[in-house]
Parts: sequence; C-alpha cells; structure tokens
Amino acid sequence: MRTEVVIIGAGPAGLLLSHLLAADGVDSILLESRSRAHVGARIRAGVLEQSSVDVLTAAGLGDRLKAEGGEHRGIYLTWPDDEVFIDFEELTGRSTVVYGQAEVQKDLDAAAQRRGQQIVYEVSDTRVHDVDSDSPYVTYLDADGAPGRVEAAVVAGCDGSFGPSRSAVPEAVRTRFERVYPHSWLGVLAQVAPSTDHVRYAWHSDGFAMHSMRSSSVSRLYLQVPNGTDLADWSDDRIWETLSHRLGSGRRGFHLTSGPITEKSVLPMRSLVQTPMRHGQLFLAGDAAHILPPTGAKGLNLAIADVALLAPALVSLLRKDDHVLAESYSDLALRRVWRATHFAWWMTDMLHTGSDPFAAQLQLSQLRWLASSHAARTGLAENFAGLSLHI
Ligand code: APR
Ligand code: PHB
Repeated sequence: MRTEVVIIGAGPAGLLLSHLLAADGVDSILLESRSRAHVGARIRAGVLEQSSVDVLTAAGLGDRLKAEGGEHRGIYLTWPDDEVFIDFEELTGRSTVVYGQAEVQKDLDAAAQRRGQQIVYEVSDTRVHDVDSDSPYVTYLDADGAPGRVEAAVVAGCDGSFGPSRSAVPEAVRTRFERVYPHSWLGVLAQVAPSTDHVRYAWHSDGFAMHSMRSSSVSRLYLQVPNGTDLADWSDDRIWETLSHRLGSGRRGFHLTSGPITEKSVLPMRSLVQTPMRHGQLFLAGDAAHILPPTGAKGLNLAIADVALLAPALVSLLRKDDHVLAESYSDLALRRVWRATHFAWWMTDMLHTGSDPFAAQLQLSQLRWLASSHAARTGLAENFAGLSLHI
C-alpha cells in the first residue's frame, strides 16, 4: 500500500492526526496493534484543558463534548488540617472539562468511519524502515499473519508508551530522560454519583487519594499504592475504607458515598521524555515521545497539543514543500512537553507520601502556601488549565 502519511497507533494521537490531515486533503493509513473494540473500551484519563477543547472543537469534534462534558472550573487540594479550592476560572480565565478519553476516542472513531479512513487493526510485528531516506515504509503482519507493507512520505509514530517508533530513532541521535516513581495508582471506576462537585486531590500520611468522575452517575477514584501491588489484596471494602480515610470523609462537609466497583487496575507511574521528536521522515507524537505520571492530568492534553502542531507542519511539508514548521516541530512541542513534565512531577512529588518526615513537612508547607497565596494558586492554575498551545 502507498499513502502520504503512515500513522502507527490509532489512539487519540494517531486518530486526531489522521482527522486533521484529512481535513486538509492529506491521505493517511493507520496501523493499530489492538482490535477496534479494545481501543474503544480502554479507560484512561478524563480531564481536558481549554486548549484541547479548542483544538477538538475547531476540528468539528466538539458537539458531544459540549453536550456531555462537565465543565470543571477548578480542583480541591485537601489534607487532614485544611483544604483549598484552586479556582482556574477566576485565576486564569480558563477552565477544564471532564470528558473521558474513551469518549474522545469514540468521537474520533465515528469521524474516521464517516470519512472512510483506512485503519488496519490487529497488526503485529510493526517495523519502521528507512526513515533517513525520502522513501520510508512500515512493515507488519495482519490479523491473519500475512505480511503487509505501507510506503509513505512520512511516518508518524503515535504508538504510545510501548510501541516501536520511539526506538526507531537511532541510539546515537536520541536522548531519553526518565524518572521512575516508587508508587503506583490503584484506579477504580464505580457506579455511584460523585461525592464531590470538582476533582479532589488528597494528601495523607498513609498515601495520596483522588476523587474524579466520568458522569453524574459514574465516579473515578484512585489510591497511591506501592509498586508491585497485587489487586487480589484490595477487596472493594478495603478500597472504600481507605478512600474514605484518605479523602477525609466526614470532614468539612465532605462525605464519600460508596457504590459498586465495575473496574479496578494498578497503574505504574513514570516520567519519560525522548528527544528529538523528529528524526528524518519519522515524527513522534503523544505517549510515543513522552510519558507522564497522571497527577495533573496532562497525558491526553499533551498528545492533542503535539498533534495540533504536527498536522499543519505535515500539510505544509507535503503540500507546499515548505519545511519550516516540520523543522521546528520537535523544539516547539518539547517546550510544552517539558513544562507539563515539570508540572506532573511537581504535583506527584507534593502529593505522594513515603517514610521521609522531612519530605512530608515540605509537602504540607507547599499545600499551606497554596492555601494562603494567590500567586501560588495562579501558578498551579496556569499549568493545569491555562497553557496555550504554543508556549
Ligand atoms: N503497532 C501498531 N500500533 C501500536 C503498536 C504497534 N507495535 N504498539 C502500540 N500501538 C497502539 C496502541 O494499541 C494504542 O492504541 O498505539 C496506540 C497508542 O495510543 P495511546 O496509548 O492512547 O497513546 P496516545 O495516542 O499518544 O494518547 C496519549 O493516552 O496513555 C494515554 O495518558 C495517555 O492520555 C494519554 C493518551
Ligand atoms: C481522571 O479523571 O481519570 C483523572 C483526573 C485527574 C488526574 C488524573 C486522572 O490528575
């Protein structure tokens, strides 16, 4: 097969890229290792920044998001002695929308179906070739094990944390920056109305907890757990008791209501940035180039921001033979990537507790600073909700 852009990965980054390219008449083929049903059912992040909402809306993908997404003008930070509401709207004039990644994926998938987008699902052994030349190509095995090959002008690596694109940049050229954290999140989805009107991040000496939501009847909650935690050790009762304790149920008018848990998983956390995000005719976007811990809700937003830069760069390259945007893509995208990487690291570091009493005092001091300082709150709000696409 031959196309203009071969996109590896049909997650939000890959599907949005194909959508934006199609809007400018650039053809693409997507190669995806999982099934369409699997990709559509994954439960992932849930908070969209204003700039992500703007990109999706401008791309004609904003209808359901507008109707069903809940606008969230801030977050609570709570700890046993006090709490603060960080009012994004008041502090930055910008807001966030709670709309699950699965919903974004559904909207992108529906748009792809409508335009007849070519997507090959259930591929394996995906390999990237000759990105240093003008005629790169990708090979794979299809669902029946038959070999396939797509030739293109450009390869877009949108294959997430575990895909092959990142390693297709030669070792001599790439640099990986990485941090692993000693803890993971135990995430649950519960059929119960959220007990909080805004997302609640809780510091507790036993460990971090968080209360988010997906709709008026579905809650999403997380607990800090040690790496290597076995889900079998966490009964639903134990999860609810621990959430109540860490979130401070019964304090300051907050009462956690429990309900049936429909999904449980343990999510490891790490920070990783690989530079550059372009090598030859290979461009990386989303989790393929960078992974963040989820504290701060940046992963999906960064993927959308990358693609919003990459799509016009590829259109200029392929339609006008204009290389300027393609050449600046990596540097420009990495400015936002590093800002988000710092922010996610900072939120993680401030809220996850361990055995070091010195660290705990520094965390509490930061939380009190946020409660007492307008400037501190503005800084957090700007990073959470207020970043523009180009920083
Ligand atoms: N060949 C083809 N596709 C692959 C391969 C491969 N070898 N390896 C992985 N993929 C697919 C995955 O199955 C997935 O559907 O690439 C897709 C990558 O999608 P995501 O992991 O959702 O990553 P991205 O599109 O960059 O979106 C970033 O996803 O993980 C979250 O926190 C992250 O919210 C952020 C968002
Ligand atoms: C979520 O709703 O899944 C969520 C919200 C905020 C975060 C991370 C995850 O920081």
